[in-house]
Amino acid sequence: MTRPARPFEHDGIAFGCDYNPEQWAPDVWDEDIALMQQAGVDLVAINIFGWSHLEPREGEFDFSGLDDIIGRLHAAGIRVNLGTGTSSPPAWLTRAHPEVLPMVEDGTRRYPGGRQAWCPSSPVFRAAALRLVEAVAGRYGEHPAVSLWHVSNELGCHNALCHCDVSAAAFRGWLRAKYGTIDGLNRAWGTAFWSQTYREWDEIGTPRATLSSRNPGQMLDFHRFSSDELLSYYRAEADVIRRLSSAPITTNFMVTAHIENLDYWSWAGDMDVVANDHYLDHRLDDPNAELSFAADLSRGLGGGAPWILMEHSTGAVNWQPLNKAKSAGEILRNSLTHVARGADGVCFFQWRASLQGSEKFHSAMLPHAGTDSAVWREVVALGGIVDRIGEVAGSRVEASAALVFSWESWWATQNESRPSKALGYLDQVHAAYAALHAQGLTVDIVAPGADLSAYRLVVVPGLHLVRAAEAAVITDWIAAGGTALVTFYSGTVDEEDRVWAGGYTGPFRDALGLRIEEFAPVEPGTPLHLSDGGTAHLWSERSHVTTARVEASFSDGPSEGHPAVTRNTWGSGAAWYLATLPSAADYRALIARLADEAGVPPAARVCGATDAVEIVRRRGVDASFLFIVNHGSAPIVVEATGRELVCGTEVSGHVDVPGGAVRIIREEAAA
Ligand code: GLA
Repeated sequence: MTRPARPFEHDGIAFGCDYNPEQWAPDVWDEDIALMQQAGVDLVAINIFGWSHLEPREGEFDFSGLDDIIGRLHAAGIRVNLGTGTSSPPAWLTRAHPEVLPMVEDGTRRYPGGRQAWCPSSPVFRAAALRLVEAVAGRYGEHPAVSLWHVSNELGCHNALCHCDVSAAAFRGWLRAKYGTIDGLNRAWGTAFWSQTYREWDEIGTPRATLSSRNPGQMLDFHRFSSDELLSYYRAEADVIRRLSSAPITTNFMVTAHIENLDYWSWAGDMDVVANDHYLDHRLDDPNAELSFAADLSRGLGGGAPWILMEHSTGAVNWQPLNKAKSAGEILRNSLTHVARGADGVCFFQWRASLQGSEKFHSAMLPHAGTDSAVWREVVALGGIVDRIGEVAGSRVEASAALVFSWESWWATQNESRPSKALGYLDQVHAAYAALHAQGLTVDIVAPGADLSAYRLVVVPGLHLVRAAEAAVITDWIAAGGTALVTFYSGTVDEEDRVWAGGYTGPFRDALGLRIEEFAPVEPGTPLHLSDGGTAHLWSERSHVTTARVEASFSDGPSEGHPAVTRNTWGSGAAWYLATLPSAADYRALIARLADEAGVPPAARVCGATDAVEIVRRRGVDASFLFIVNHGSAPIVVEATGRELVCGTEVSGHVDVPGGAVRIIREEAAA
C-alpha cells in the first residue's frame, strides 16, 4: 500500500481510550482530564455513541456538550479521535422508521434497546446518518484538536448480515452487477442441484433460514455482498468528512477471534490508517498467540505500515462466558506486544468504567475502585513507557516468513455441509500461527495472491478457497526457491465454491507432488499416530505421492499407511504438505525444521526456556527496536546490545528479562 493521502500525525506512540463523557456529569470531566494527563493519555475517542445526545429529535441539533468536551480536551493538549456518532440510531429514528431495523435469517426483526440496530442497506438509515455526519464534520472538521476521524464503530459487529427485503433487493443489484446474466449466476451457484435454478432476478433472496442446508454459493456471495455493503456505507460517511475536514479518516476493525463477516483485505485501502480493536479471548487454546496473530494481521492490512490499536482492555471484558481479570504485568505485556508488532498507538476501551448500562462490568483505565488500584497504577506505568519509546513510531516490523490468510476461505470453510463440523478455518490458521509464534518467528500475514518475494518461508493453512492465479503466485514463488507449507483442505474449491476436480489441493497438486483421493476426518479427541512418532488429530486423508517424498505417514486411523507429512522439490524450492493437525509440540518441531531449511532465524537468540517469549524487531531509520515480551514466570536472557528503554539502562551482549517483564532495546543502526 502506498502512503495514504492523509497520514495520521502524532508525536510518538499515541496513548488513549474511548471516552464516553455523556455518561457522567460535567464536574467529573475535569477530574477525568486531570487524570488523563497524569496517565499520559494523548488521544481520546469521543462521540462514538453520540447520536441521541447530538440530535435529540429529528433535525434538532444540540452540540453544547460536545463543544464543551472538545474544548476541554484541546485546552489540556489531548488530541481528539472524533466519532461520527452514527453507530447506534436514536429511538426517534427507529420509531418513525421501523424498516431500518435489521432482520436476521429467520425473518424476524431485531429491536432497539441494544446497539447497532440498523440495516446496512437501508437508504433511510443512511440518509439520517449522513445528515448527522454532515453536521458533525461541518462543525468540527477543522477543529485543531481533531487529529483523526472515527467512522461509526466496529461496523458490522452485530448487523453485518441483514435479511430484510431492502437488503434482498440490494443483494440482487449486487448479483446483477457481478454476473450480468441469470445464467451466469445459476452456473456460479450450481443451482442445477436440488431444483434451485432461477429464471428471474426477483426470485432470488438473501439466504434466509431453510429446512435443509443452504446453497453454499449463495451463502458465499451473501458474505461478499454484506462486506461490500458496509464498505459502501463507510465510504459514504468518509466522503462527507473528506469534503469538510482535512484530518485522516478510519474506522475500528475487529481483527479478533470469532468475528468473520468483513473481508478487511478489501476494506484496508480505504483507511488513512488501519485501526483495530482486540480483546484477549480466553475461550481459545492460546490467547497470547492469537493476540500476536491479530496484531500481525492488522499490520498486514496496511501493507506493513504502522497501525493503531483503537481498543483493548485493562482487564476483564463483559461478553465472554467467564471474563478473566488480567494478571500483574499483563496490561503492559499485551499493549507492548501490539506495539512490537507495528502499532503506533495503544488505546483502551474505555477511560472510566461505566456505572450503568450493559458494559458496567467491563474493565477500564480508571476502574470502579478508582486510582488506588493495581489497574490504575499499571495504566500510569504503561503511559510512562509509551512516552519513553516515542522514537519507535514509524519504524517497521522485520519478518522473513509469511502466512496466507483469507476471509473468503473462512466463509467457504464454515459451509453448513462440510467433511467435519469440528473443522474450522480460524482454528487451522491459529494452530499454524501458534507453531510459528512458539518458534519465535516473526510473521507477516498476507492476502492470497500477494507478492511473496520478501519471504523465505510461507505457510498456507487450510486455504480452502483459492483462485488459480492466487495458487500460481505461491507455486511460482516456491519454484523460484521458496519453502512453503500447505496444510489440509487447501485448494479444495475455486472462487465459485466449485471443487477443483482431479484430486484435492487442486491448483497446488503438481507443486505438492501428491494426489488426494478422499478426506477421512476423525472424531475430535481421537488421537492419530504418525510413523515418525508424532501424534495428530482431527483430520486424515487417503492420498498417494506422485513426486513427493513421504516424511511421515499415518500409523493408525482411517488413513493408515497414507502420507501425513510430505516434501516435494518444486523448481528450486520445497513444497511441504501437512495432511493432518499435529499436536502443538509436533507442529512447532515441523516449523522449526522448515525454518531451518529455509534459513529463517528468530529475531534474537534466547538462553533458557523460550516457549513463553516473543521477540520482534522494528526497524527505523536511525535505530531498530528489539521488543522482548516474557509471558512466563521464569527469567530469561536474550542476546541484545543497546539502550534498554523500559528501565533506561545500557545493555551489552545480553539482557536479563525477569518473568512477566517486557524489555525494549534500542539498537543502533548498522553503519
Ligand atoms: C467493542 C466496542 C466497544 C465496547 C467493547 C467492549 O470493541 O467497540 O464499544 O463495546 O467492544 O469489549
